[in-house]
Amino acid sequence: MHETVLISGDAHPRLGRDLAHALGIVQIPAAIAAFADGETRIRIADSLHGKHVLIVQGSAPPANERLMTLSLLADAARGAGAAHICAVMPYFAYARQDVRDGGPLSAALAARLLAAASIDRVVTLELHAAALESAFPMPMLNLRADALLLPAIEAWARDDFAIVAPDAGGLKRAQRYAIALKTPLAVVTKCRSAADISAAHALLGDVKGRRCLIVDDMVSTGGTIANAAAALLTAGAAEVHALFVHAVLAPGALARMRAAGVRRIVTTDSIARDPHPDIEVVAIARFLAQALRRDMTSAPAAINGL
Ligand code: R5P
Repeated sequence: MHETVLISGDAHPRLGRDLAHALGIVQIPAAIAAFADGETRIRIADSLHGKHVLIVQGSAPPANERLMTLSLLADAARGAGAAHICAVMPYFAYARQDVRDGGPLSAALAARLLAAASIDRVVTLELHAAALESAFPMPMLNLRADALLLPAIEAWARDDFAIVAPDAGGLKRAQRYAIALKTPLAVVTKCRSAADISAAHALLGDVKGRRCLIVDDMVSTGGTIANAAAALLTAGAAEVHALFVHAVLAPGALARMRAAGVRRIVTTDSIARDPHPDIEVVAIARFLAQALRRDMTSAPAAINGL
C-alpha cells in the first residue's frame, strides 16, 4: 500500500491545508520562489519515494504561472521518487477555447503539457464543458458541483422560481439544476464578438414574474451574467440571482453584475479570494476530500493509500 501525501502549490494554500486535514494525510512542504529573471524555483526537501502524491494547484489567474508552477512541482515530485502524481485542480483554466476557429484547442494542449510533466491523473471541478474530458491523455475525474451547490439554494426554490442558462453552452448544466429543483428552465443565448465581449441574443422561456437564478460554470468579466440579467429583467423577471462555480471575477465583474440588477451571488472557494460581503461562498474542501477518498479507494491498489 502506498502512502498518500499532499503538496500544495501557490494558487490556493488554504485549500491545500484544508484538504490535507480533511483527508488526514501529511502535507509535504514545497518551497516556491522566483529567480530574478522571473523563472520559478521549486525545492522539495523530503523523499517521496514510492508515495502517491496529490498536488493541489488550480490554474486560476495568472493561469500561465499556475500551470508552469504545477508542471515544475510535478517534475520535482517525480524526481523525489513519487510513484503516482495526481494534480488536484479545482479550477482548470484554458477550457473555453475548445473549437479551432483559427486558434488553439487550449484545454487539450494544457492537459498534454501536464502529462508531459509526468502528472498521472487530474481531478478537477466543473470543467467548462464535459466534452473536454476526452481531451485529457491521462485518466481524469471531472466532478460536478451540483451536490455541493444545490443545498445552498434549495430553500429558495419555491413556485415562482426559474433556473436560467446564460448561454447555450451552459444549458445542460442549468437543466440539471432545474430538474433537481423541479423548476422551469429558460436560456439566454449569447454572441461573443471578442475575447471578453459578449451580448445577449435571445431569451427562450417564460420568466415573467419569476425569481430567476442564473447558473454558470464561471464568471470572469461578469458580462455574460450581466447581459443575461438585463434580458431577464426586461422580459419581466421579478428578481435575478446568480450562482457559478468558479469566481474568476476580473476587476469590475462584481460591479457589472450588480449594476445589471443581480441580487444574490453564490459561488465556491475553488479560487482563492478574500471574503466579500456581497458574495455567498460555499467551501469545497470537504466535498473535494470525499471525492478524492472515493476516487483513491476505487483506484488500483498500487495508488490506493487511503
Ligand atoms: C462561457 O461560455 C462560460 O461558461 C462563461 O459564461 C463565461 O466564461 C463567463 O465569462 P464572462 O464573465 O467574462 O462573461
